[in-house]
Amino acid sequence: MTSTLTPPLTVATEPADSAAGIAPGAEPGLSATVRGSLAAALRRSAEIERRIGEEPRSFRILTGDRPTGDLHLGHYFGTLRNRVRLQDAGAELFVLVADYQVLTDRDAAEALGEHVLGLVLDHLATGIDPARATIFAHSAVPELNQLLLPFLSLVSTGELARNPTVKDEIAHSRQRSPGGATPRTPRDMSDGKGSISNMRSVNGLMFTYPVHQAADILFCKGNLVPVGQDQLPHLEVTRLVARRFNERYPGAAGPVFPEPDALLSAAPLLLGTDGGKMSKSRGNAIALRASADETARLIRGAKTDGERRISYDPATRPEVSSLVLLAALCLERDPAAVAEEIGDGGAAALKRMVTEAVNERLAPLRARRAELAADPGYARQVLRDGCARARAVAAATLEEVRDAMGMRY
Ligand code: TRP
Repeated sequence: MTSTLTPPLTVATEPADSAAGIAPGAEPGLSATVRGSLAAALRRSAEIERRIGEEPRSFRILTGDRPTGDLHLGHYFGTLRNRVRLQDAGAELFVLVADYQVLTDRDAAEALGEHVLGLVLDHLATGIDPARATIFAHSAVPELNQLLLPFLSLVSTGELARNPTVKDEIAHSRQRSPGGATPRTPRDMSDGKGSISNMRSVNGLMFTYPVHQAADILFCKGNLVPVGQDQLPHLEVTRLVARRFNERYPGAAGPVFPEPDALLSAAPLLLGTDGGKMSKSRGNAIALRASADETARLIRGAKTDGERRISYDPATRPEVSSLVLLAALCLERDPAAVAEEIGDGGAAALKRMVTEAVNERLAPLRARRAELAADPGYARQVLRDGCARARAVAAATLEEVRDAMGMRY
């Protein structure tokens, strides 16, 4: 994985943007990160990978997902595998089930219990070890959520409004406005200058969740967060919150919070069966827990093109290339070689190969998952234990925060 990382740019050290009245001129504002080049983040990640190899125990890693549905192949090759790798390398891992965050872009969190336990099972089946890693949920850790209050005071509304990932999510939100107005359109969301113009219809949690995410990471003093590119602006909010908190409230025993690093992983881009982005909510994903038959059916229905000769060319043949890539990932082979082998076999031969490769690759994971799911009390207990552990950590951090802020009466 490290070897696929490519070099250079500066994420957090660019010149300060005048950050809406907060620490004027003194700190790099959010837009520095956002402007920051991906290349530097990648270079830094390569460096961190080296350090993980040398001193894994100096890393406390926080990672998480919204419980909105089954994890799928995109998650598996993009993040899940990586989490297990980091755990097995000896880093300390916290896995958050971000249940409050579900409410950012929809009105109600549906089938929450099922999705939450499903996430736990997906992680356990992939190899997360509850004896070493802590799996927990937002809603069970009040001390984490309480950190949101002081943290919100450290970030300006202007900085929040500039977050490109939040803007994109607002544009694609499935929420009616809490005030009852009609659903928004992407055009409502932007004034063309990069800020959100129609703020009145945006739910407050959507607007502020990157700050909540800072609490997710900082409650346990996480110093490393594996992310995809879309999460970089959020991580920059976390760094900003940590920096400003430490400046404003110097703890008696030194800075309270670390400034966590992003660990960018080169996630392969797998498309859904309809050729769009693979997504839990679009019905185009192959879930980890899907049966072999269901997998075959989904892949049979996947979009391809009319050309008989199979090739690997993501730019001009995205759908076919995504299937080739999927087979290659499962088989741990080179995509071009896989395409070459299928040659003139056409889409039917390609799909046969992909189906077999996916089902073979996932068979042990699916068997483990089914075994674990047979005792519904087990996943629940793992989560309960994780929440208790997270709560103890969060309570200790909140005590330090109260001390630093002088809230001792
Ligand atoms: N925002 C992440 C997502 O949508 C989930 C998440 C919540 C998260 N809190 C986090 C990720 C903290 C990393 C760190 O997938």
